[in-house]
Amino acid sequence: MKQYNNGEFRKKDIGKIYTVYGWVNKRRDMGGVIFVDLRDRSGFLQVVFNRSFLKSDFALAESLKNEYCIKVTGELIARTDDMINPKIPTGEVELMVETLEILSEAEPVPFNIYEEKEISENIGLKYRYLDLRREKLQNTIKTRAKITSSVREYLNSKEFLEIETPILCKSTPEGARDYIVPSRINKGFFYALPQSPQIFKQLLMVGGFERYYQIAKCFRDEDLRADRQPEFTQIDLEMSFANQEDIILLVEEMIKQVVKEVKNISLENFPRMPYKEAMDRFGSDKPDTRFEMELKDLTEILRGTKMNVFNNVIENNGIVKCLIIKNNGDKYSRSDVEHLTDFVKIYGAKGLAWLKYDNDTFNGVIAKNLEIEKLEAMKKTYAIENNDLILIVADKKKIVYDSLGALRLKIANDLNLIDKEKLNFLWVVDFPMFEYSETEGRYKAMHHPFTMPSDLDKLVNDKGNCLSVAYDIVLNGYELGGGSVRIHNSKMQKEVFNALELTEEDIREKFGFFMDAFKYGAPPHAGLAIGLERFTMLLSGTDNIKDVIAFPKTQSASDLMSEAPNIVSKNQLDELGIYILKEEENE
Ligand code: AMO
Repeated sequence: MKQYNNGEFRKKDIGKIYTVYGWVNKRRDMGGVIFVDLRDRSGFLQVVFNRSFLKSDFALAESLKNEYCIKVTGELIARTDDMINPKIPTGEVELMVETLEILSEAEPVPFNIYEEKEISENIGLKYRYLDLRREKLQNTIKTRAKITSSVREYLNSKEFLEIETPILCKSTPEGARDYIVPSRINKGFFYALPQSPQIFKQLLMVGGFERYYQIAKCFRDEDLRADRQPEFTQIDLEMSFANQEDIILLVEEMIKQVVKEVKNISLENFPRMPYKEAMDRFGSDKPDTRFEMELKDLTEILRGTKMNVFNNVIENNGIVKCLIIKNNGDKYSRSDVEHLTDFVKIYGAKGLAWLKYDNDTFNGVIAKNLEIEKLEAMKKTYAIENNDLILIVADKKKIVYDSLGALRLKIANDLNLIDKEKLNFLWVVDFPMFEYSETEGRYKAMHHPFTMPSDLDKLVNDKGNCLSVAYDIVLNGYELGGGSVRIHNSKMQKEVFNALELTEEDIREKFGFFMDAFKYGAPPHAGLAIGLERFTMLLSGTDNIKDVIAFPKTQSASDLMSEAPNIVSKNQLDELGIYILKEEENE
């Protein structure tokens, strides 16, 4: 068995014989003496093949190539002064090899393991097992393992039980599309892979376990982004006889412990912000609070203006908001602002009005059309100064928030306004119970339909303003996790289903077993789930979720290495009673 970590040898270990294992990271042949950086999980050790000390055949050492996997035995010695490398932890020592055994030869690798240089994503994913050997992925995967072990340690100490829940289940209501699995035994029937263990963890509370957690695999067939994968992992927990405050305090303490262990950073208490305030100030329910540049309201200032672009919106219950880019107006040319206009259009904005303040006057097309007193009011209210640029969107609330919220992040990135060292945690609380779906023409649950409403009287008559006991934990502009206090009596659950316009049949079909369970003394309970990948990403300083998953999928949900998904044999399909329509049959 391998006994030593190559990266841990120090001067104190000198003078003894060691057998070490690893991969040839790099080799230098000085004619008669060959130096090899021997890499393992812990780092490198320089091993030296010198004709005068080597008992094995020197030709064997000469045959070594990058990524050969070898075993060497020799004495650890001090490097001569001119050979000391202060940049690496083992830079003062080297192993003078006596015997060499090649355990495995390697063909030329498609990219150098020792270089930090970015490689094309496709090549990296096809040869993932080689990319995993590189320092970046070694570090992120180790961070991920540290986080899970720290989470387990914390939750075990709080008497949470780790319990697994099924992977082959019935469709869960998280709102994304399900991955479905055909049943061979029950032809024509399908399982769904869990979007989260939500229903099961609630049933574990009904089952009397009181405190549950799981590092749970979840599957969602949704459009993928830099922070989304089709299969991902949640730190999922649920607690009986607990309220919002209990969950918030517990999770906050857990996060503090993890961050202390993984990053050696002691965090202050996390601030809390109601959803409405987050939207008003940042245009987002996951605000990045590492920089200011908040959204400023212009609705009241512009009310009654002769400029129709603003007045029509205000008359129709829309809003006008702006971003004020302080002291950076000169960085934006007219064509730069046009690009920003194209950017906000992605979020449904019809346009982006702008004003520049310079030489103590407002410039720009709307400066000529807007009443002087309106301009003055803006200047006074928001302390506008020379070299400020004001970017304005007038529209329905949602479009204004979405477009300016996204623009705020884009500009902060473009202007380098974000302190990347910060870890800004924030609780967003008081989420609305429902959100209106324009496409479906009905209200949908904002979190999920098992969330406790906090305004019972609004459940029927004022759904748009009905709040819930739901909370999100946000880190640096990412939704790290979310949870809620759950409904624990079937009567209220039914009222919520009714508010969601589910028919009796739907309720029975989808949630019959769940509703039944709540008839038998269900305890009050609450919980939360944190996205493990997002947590690892943010603690590792990467913005690509693939960097924290050993074997991730591409943007089109495929695995370039194993080539999943793939076609299956006709026999397999026949057994499942599945017949694949050809393109033309499909039309
Ligand atoms: P929710 O749907 O908010 O809540 O998910 C919780 C957290 O899981 C992470 N997450 C994802 N990570 C990577 N790829 C994805 N496709 C993806 N989707 C979600 C996010 C998110 O905050 N059952 C509830 C939790 C509860 O109420 O207890 C749930 O799943 O970090």
